[in-house]
Amino acid sequence: MLSIVKGPYLQRPAETGMTFMWETSEPASSRVNVFAAERIHSGHQGNYKTPERLVRTAGSDDDRTIHRIDMDGLEPATAYFYTVISENARGKTESGPHPFKTAVRKGEPFCFAVTSETGGYSGFDQTNGIINRNLFGQMQNYRPDLALFIGDMVNDGRQYDDWSAYLFNPGRGLLWNTPFYSCLGNHECNASWYYDFFAYDPPKNYYSFDYGDVHFVCLDSTDFVKREHYPNAAGTICEGNPQYDFLVRDLQAASAKWNIVYFHYPPYVSGGYQVEDLRQLCPVLERHGVDLVFNSHTIVYERSHPLRDGRVDMENGIVYVVAGGAGAMPDWLLPKREWHTSQSLAVPHFVQVSVVSDRLELRAIDVEGRLFDTLQIRKAADGGKTFR
Ligand SMILES: [Fe+2]
Repeated sequence: MLSIVKGPYLQRPAETGMTFMWETSEPASSRVNVFAAERIHSGHQGNYKTPERLVRTAGSDDDRTIHRIDMDGLEPATAYFYTVISENARGKTESGPHPFKTAVRKGEPFCFAVTSETGGYSGFDQTNGIINRNLFGQMQNYRPDLALFIGDMVNDGRQYDDWSAYLFNPGRGLLWNTPFYSCLGNHECNASWYYDFFAYDPPKNYYSFDYGDVHFVCLDSTDFVKREHYPNAAGTICEGNPQYDFLVRDLQAASAKWNIVYFHYPPYVSGGYQVEDLRQLCPVLERHGVDLVFNSHTIVYERSHPLRDGRVDMENGIVYVVAGGAGAMPDWLLPKREWHTSQSLAVPHFVQVSVVSDRLELRAIDVEGRLFDTLQIRKAADGGKTFR
C-alpha cells in the first residue's frame, strides 16, 4: 500500500520559498498545497483555525519515491500550513496540514537550534532511541526557525534503514515544521543517501546560505582529513583544495552581520576525538570574520573561550562549540580542562541560538529541558566583540 515513509520535511528555507521533501513506499506523483495561516480571534484566544485558504500549489506527475518540490512566491517571515499528497494507480497518501515559516528578512530576529550524534554513537546508546525522541521533542518545544545537525545523524549512512531509525522517525515532529541543514560526519560514510535525502546546493557536502543576519557555511571535514585530497605532500589544508578554495571565496563574498561555520571534526575540545589537523582552517576563519564555529564528533558539550592565533582573545576571538548533541560520554572528556575550554559537560543536549541584530545569544539545554550554559556575543559597528 502506498504510504509516506519519511517526512514530510523542509529544506532550503528562503524569504519567499521553501523546499518540501518526503519519501513514499513506492513510486508516486508529488503535490504540495500551501494554505494561509489564519488566526481565530474569539475572546482571549488567538489560535490558528483549520487551514482552508489555498495560497500556492505545486506538483509533478512523474512517479518517484523521493519527492522534492521547490515552492516560491511566498511572503517573508510568514507562517503557513502545508499538505503533501502522493498518488499512483494503487492509492493515495497524504500528510498535513503542518505549519512552517518562511525565512526572516535581514535585520529581523530569529532562532536556530543545533544538535548531532543522533546515530546512537556506535552502539554506546543503549536507550533504544529514547534519547533521540526526547531530544528532538525538547528542540521542538523551543520552536526554532531552523535546525542544524552537525553530523553522525545515523550510525552507518550506507544502511538505508538507519536514516529512518535514527533521524526521520524520532525527529518526525520537529522535521515536519522546522527546515534543517546537516553536514557529513564520519558515520554518514559519504553515502549516496545523504545526497539523495537532502536538497542543499551542489556539491552538497559543502555549501553556504544566508538566513536573516547570518551567513552559514557548512564544510565536509571528513574530506579535509583524507591525505590523498591534500594538494601538497606536507599534509596541509591549503590553496588548491577545492573545498578550501570555496571557503575562502565564500567568506570573502559574505556580507551578513554574522558568520557561522559548521563541520563535524572539532579542532578544539578537551576530550578524545579532537582533530587538530582542522586547526589549519582557523587562520582563514579568523581572517574573514567568522564569529562562531559548531563541531561535533566528541559526544559531549564544550564551548571554547574566544580564540585567535592559537590564544584566548576576548576582543576578537572565534568561539568553538562542540555540540555532541545526543551523545553523553563523560569518560571522553579529559580529567582536567585544556587552556581553551570555557565550559563543558557530558549530557545529551542541543544548543539554541537567538540572533537579534548585533547580539547573539547562545543557550545550551539538556534533554530534560534544563539550561546549563549561556553565552552572549555583542558586535559593535566596527566589528569589535564583547563576550559574556
Ligand atoms: Fe563522528
